Amino acid sequence: MYKDSAKHRIDELTQQLRQHNYNYYVLSKLIISDSDFDSLLKELEELEKKFPEFLQPDSPTQRVGGEPTKDFKSVVHKYPFLSLSNTYSEQEIRDFDTRVRKAIGDEVEYVCELKYDGVAIGLTYENGILKQAVTRGDGIQGDDVTNNVKTIRSIPLKLRNNFPPELEIRGEIYFPLKAFEQLNADREEIGLPAFANPRNSASGSLKMQDPAEVARRPLECFLYFLPGEQNLSNTHYESLNYAKDIGFRISKIIALCKSVDEIFEFINDWDKGRHQLEYEIDGVVIKVNSISDQIRLGYTAKNPRWAIAYKFKAEQAETVLESISYQVGRTGAITPVANLKPVLLAGTTVKRASLHNADIIAKLDVRTGDHVFVEKGGEIIPKIVGVNHDKRNMDSKPVRFINTCPECNTLLIRKEGEVAHYCPNEDNCPPQLKGKLEHFISRKAMNIDSLGEGKIEMLYEHDLLKNVADLYELTYNQLLGLEKIIPAEDGKKEKKISFREKTADNIIKGIEQSKEVSFPRVLYALGIRFVGETVAKKLATYFKNIDALLDAGFDELIEIEEIGDKIAESVINYFSKSEHLEIINRLKDKGIKMVIEESQESGSMVLEGKSFVVSGVFENYSRDEIKNLVEYHGGKNVGSISSKTDYVLAGENMGPSKKQKAEKLGVPIISESDFIKMLG
Ligand code: IVH
Repeated sequence: MYKDSAKHRIDELTQQLRQHNYNYYVLSKLIISDSDFDSLLKELEELEKKFPEFLQPDSPTQRVGGEPTKDFKSVVHKYPFLSLSNTYSEQEIRDFDTRVRKAIGDEVEYVCELKYDGVAIGLTYENGILKQAVTRGDGIQGDDVTNNVKTIRSIPLKLRNNFPPELEIRGEIYFPLKAFEQLNADREEIGLPAFANPRNSASGSLKMQDPAEVARRPLECFLYFLPGEQNLSNTHYESLNYAKDIGFRISKIIALCKSVDEIFEFINDWDKGRHQLEYEIDGVVIKVNSISDQIRLGYTAKNPRWAIAYKFKAEQAETVLESISYQVGRTGAITPVANLKPVLLAGTTVKRASLHNADIIAKLDVRTGDHVFVEKGGEIIPKIVGVNHDKRNMDSKPVRFINTCPECNTLLIRKEGEVAHYCPNEDNCPPQLKGKLEHFISRKAMNIDSLGEGKIEMLYEHDLLKNVADLYELTYNQLLGLEKIIPAEDGKKEKKISFREKTADNIIKGIEQSKEVSFPRVLYALGIRFVGETVAKKLATYFKNIDALLDAGFDELIEIEEIGDKIAESVINYFSKSEHLEIINRLKDKGIKMVIEESQESGSMVLEGKSFVVSGVFENYSRDEIKNLVEYHGGKNVGSISSKTDYVLAGENMGPSKKQKAEKLGVPIISESDFIKMLG
């Protein structure tokens, strides 16, 4: 292709792709299929590769272009990044209205908007091109998170239509609720702590060091404020319409109000309606509409005088604390749980609440039989926030935290500097043991997906599994016909599960296949405390085989990069136990990989633990070649899409039902070029 026509086509593709993004993210209209979009994007990428002189920094291909950052640069805001004064009281909203009317007269008009519970962001555009995205910080200066923000597809890299030469706009980046639940489920599966609420996961995502990782988090953004000094329109309402016109995503939920009564109509509607939204809000923002009135009202040191936020009260209910039970987690940590008299709260019946640890119980001085206040804040699990002392029983006594494990009776310990109590019986305490087994079979470990939590439980109950080495001694005949009866509960009938031929066969096959799993993952699968995926990889690469690792002393271990005292102690402690050595010997005898292989040393393993469904026809590789690449780099090919699938790798002509399924389950659909990029 000649240069001229390449340039022409690059411009044309850029234009089309921008329009499609705008249709989808701003107008919510789906006009082009994902695969058609991907093929336009791919064509553009190829052309930009061939003619790098035409590659523009704001090209739709440049969303994940940034390098990983260690520290985010601090940037001083051009306009101070003020926050809003906020209130929970109806009277204070009336007082605000009175103040406004006093200053500017009775002809006032307000705009009511939702108050999104996310992370505030300021975007600057120069000649229509996104130059910088900065967090609020302390209001004077914030962090430059531009590379991460560029991965958010609803934020335009280039503006449309009649944009000014310089523009600053502010809004809120948030984590959609469904995706948040999925993210936490995924994190828990691999033993990472769950995020407490969507806001934390949004801010955590924005501060990740690698933009490619951020791109995998489905962040969204609503824009809601153009600092008025820019003189772009006469009213706030118009400025939002203008923002929409030049390419920004603006919420449709917005109302013009002329009186406090109208304001409260909006507030009450959304206080009730907020649980139907796909994102979290924590109140309503009320802004004076006219920009000249805003200027007249001005600012205090901290807040504009022309706006106020009304915050919804966290929903509370009073109920009785019937008893406290203690749960033993997979790491042996004990969590006290409040069993409550069922009570309706924020649309769901609450029967339990977390009491966190002994310190919290003591601080609340909560006692069995107390009337307690339960609240559902931003957190998913409700919490007890106080006790109604007027209703306390005279003879109630402070709670005595248990001192032995409720599962195995072992004396609990409390480590220095930690709030939780622990059961130290890691190898025999049932939940810890089952936890170890579940971790061993999990995706990033031995990836035996024909077994799951329920089946592990069943095998444990039938005395067929006491440790991970027992898995490799299971036989088809032992499994076939194995039964479990689930007793009738909550109006559901009694249920009987039994292993049929296919199940038994799949389990045996899955276990057999796990013998192919690489040594670093085997090491991770053992579940040694503090030995996560990265540490396991480090240790395996350094020692090359399990025997060398077994012989390693403390000093040698801490010599290795990133291995500190805590990890070294934990490794030595693990291998000092004869039960563990016996398990390792048995695993070795069964052919589990305990040695690093040559190809693993050279292979990148960048796809380790990731599962792919490869579908359609590809341009540069055959489907089999793609599948080989997946495996060569440590990934796994699976036949059909499930919620456990990490990526659908879509070529030309991928079936529409596959696409629909991936979209429904929120599995990212990636193109051949995305995939090649992942390989680095
Ligand atoms: S307007 C000068 N509108 O709430 C005032 N803020 O303290 C500019 N927020 O920091 C803010 N939804 O992060 C505005 N519709 C909305 C908002 C909103 C959420 C956040 C924002 C701000 C905080 C208020």
